[in-house]
Amino acid sequence: MLLTRLVRFLKLARYSPALATIGRLIASERRALLACVIIFIGALLAAAATMYAVEGSVQPDKLGDMPKAMWWAASMLAKIGGGDLAPPLTTLGRIIAAITVMLGIGCFALPVAIIGRGFYEEIRRRDFVVTFAMVARVPLFARLDAAAIVDLVAILRARTVPSGTTIIRKGERGDAMYLIASGRVQVESAAGSAVLEEGEFFGEMALLSREPRSATVTAVRPTDLLVLDANDFLRLVERLPDIGAKVRAVAKERRLPPATNATGGTLGGNEGTRQ
Ligand code: CMP
Repeated sequence: MLLTRLVRFLKLARYSPALATIGRLIASERRALLACVIIFIGALLAAAATMYAVEGSVQPDKLGDMPKAMWWAASMLAKIGGGDLAPPLTTLGRIIAAITVMLGIGCFALPVAIIGRGFYEEIRRRDFVVTFAMVARVPLFARLDAAAIVDLVAILRARTVPSGTTIIRKGERGDAMYLIASGRVQVESAAGSAVLEEGEFFGEMALLSREPRSATVTAVRPTDLLVLDANDFLRLVERLPDIGAKVRAVAKERRLPPATNATGGTLGGNEGTRQ
């Protein structure tokens, strides 16, 4: 029974992206982590040997041989002291104990910092950098001059989502509009479904109408998105009326029932914005 549960858990763990990330991090940081293990073993041996030398004869039952002293040192390094752990009786013993505890904090903090930094780097790598060329390539912004594109680079956020991620959920409050830098998403609404690809945008309807999201949007490929927060979006359509008009035209078309939608039976994308 326990074994079946364990096997089931291990199967689940294989598909967990977070565990896979930890596995990758441990593999890539193995040298640094090995150095931590060596430091730990060094600290353990040094603390055990000095404590054995200083208090071995004072507390022979607790520190009288190296295995006992190593157990003491390991417990102090991991700070699980207490119970049958021998409190130092001499001044030198107390100094050694204090140094051992502090070394223990370092020994455990070091690998945590290494893995933590690795996680941070991994997440930073996932969020790509928004560049001028990337924004200039978006059809909606094709007619903008360089200064306007530079302004956009400053306000657009990058977000990369794996395939299967729900980016927008129908009925939620709208807080951003999204432009697809690369990848593909699927729009699912009561009227049907549509696929939007590189250069197209979505999430504009709730921002324009201030109504809840009209559809659920899910990435069907790993997708790089340029995210425009609601306030920046509203300022943008006010400041650049041409862009505002294009976005409104697309939103209007998307609101039409499928039969009257310009792209026919299924829901329409925003091909109209392609230049
Ligand atoms: P919003 O309502 O904010 O959130 C869901 C988004 O899906 C919506 O904005 C549009 O960008 C997009 N969407 C809704 N209906 C359609 C459609 N008919 N064709 C393509 N995209 C759509």
